[in-house]
Amino acid sequence: MLPSAIHLTVNGSAASLCVEPRTTLADALRGELRLTGTHLGCEHGVCGACTVIVDGAAVRSCLMLALQAEGCKVTTVEGLGDADHLGPLQLAFRKYHALQCGFCTPGILTTAHALLLEEPNADEARIREVVSGNLCRCTGYLPIVAAILDARGAYAAQVGAGV
Ligand code: FES
Ligand code: FES
Repeated sequence: MLPSAIHLTVNGSAASLCVEPRTTLADALRGELRLTGTHLGCEHGVCGACTVIVDGAAVRSCLMLALQAEGCKVTTVEGLGDADHLGPLQLAFRKYHALQCGFCTPGILTTAHALLLEEPNADEARIREVVSGNLCRCTGYLPIVAAILDARGAYAAQVGAGV
């Protein structure tokens, strides 16, 4: 089948892509937009490394076709901050040394971002439940959970301010 044009918003900017029907959202983000912060591990929906936020929901971009993102608002890890302006989760991950190899980190950051936007007061049990869908073979999760707990205040303040 011929490639099709899709139009979506990625990290706040309009994007137009030409994709084949079989192209996954992960491949479109990485290959077409060069947003390589979205990692590909299992490509079977298991590891969570490819997690991005689509219209407010954390999704596995290896399981979603790019065509399905037509008209959607997509946030990747690059949309959470940059080297000069780290977001609250990124600052907390640095503070708590919540990564080692870093392969899982983009997916955990986007997963936690989606969670805290919806539930800025999520407790430890809820955070553990949510990040259990993202595999990390390095950290043992303790610093990851501590960092997400620490970032809650910034999200609560954003939600309270109507940001
Ligand atoms: S690469 Fe998508 S869940 Fe593992
Ligand atoms: S920091 Fe290495 S897999 Fe999580």
